[in-house]
Amino acid sequence: MDFIAGLLLVAFLGSAESGVGPSNSSSSFCTESKECLQFELVCKTDEYEVRHYSPTRWVSTDAEAYFMGVGAAMAFRRLFQYIRGANEGDVKFDMTAPVLVKIPEETKMWEPAIYTLSFLLPSAYQDSPPAPTNDKLYFTDMPDMDVYVRSYGGWMLSVTSRLHAHLLTKELQRTQAQYNHTYHYGVGYDSPLKLLNRHNEVWYVAEGDPVCAVPTETPSGTPTPDTKP
Ligand SMILES: *[C@@H]1O[C@H](CO)[C@@H](O)[C@H](O)[C@H]1NC(C)=O
Ligand SMILES: *[C@@H]1O[C@H](CO)[C@@H](O)[C@H](O)[C@H]1NC(C)=O
Repeated sequence: MDFIAGLLLVAFLGSAESGVGPSNSSSSFCTESKECLQFELVCKTDEYEVRHYSPTRWVSTDAEAYFMGVGAAMAFRRLFQYIRGANEGDVKFDMTAPVLVKIPEETKMWEPAIYTLSFLLPSAYQDSPPAPTNDKLYFTDMPDMDVYVRSYGGWMLSVTSRLHAHLLTKELQRTQAQYNHTYHYGVGYDSPLKLLNRHNEVWYVAEGDPVCAVPTETPSGTPTPDTKP
């Protein structure tokens, strides 16, 4: 009951603001940009966190590639040009964090996969972002959502991202957490120029109530997920 009320309150408060805020009011790992994506910590285990995100708008572009790195570099450049003024109005704005890469779960060897890269729009442009001049760019409205998050250091490469995604799904299986199995997000917070204390994440979007503990057996024998906040 308290938990549901808490979620509703978060959802309500979230709808009143953009979900983008100054980096000094957010997490310790979002330090390089002026503004960062804001979240509420719902619960955590030794292996993952559950975070709640309110709706936000992003500028996105798709990369079709056999390997994430190749397509991602081209897509990244397109997005970077947009924030450097390749838009109607020639508006230049600072980069925000994180950068999201939507990665399909199933990729076939003989077909290129579609990766979607997204930059978070700054709070000043959340409501009315300037239209991109490149027709490969589009806006994405991320809904209100809970995500399962696993963090790791070093560099976000295709292999490391998939490895951490795999480790997170193993853990989500153990706690019987429900999530969307069709894709995950690779989430980067640092510019390539930062060498130490780099922070990356992998996200799966939660379905239903977030789970942070292994379900316990009830007297009737039916497992009930423990959803303590
Ligand atoms: C964050 O920075 C802004 C602008 O520099 C300042 O007004 C605000 O007080 C700071 N907030 C915190 C929590 O330090
Ligand atoms: C999972 O995500 C895919 C792709 O965004 C979407 O089409 C599908 O409906 C989602 N599944 C569920 C159960 O929400």
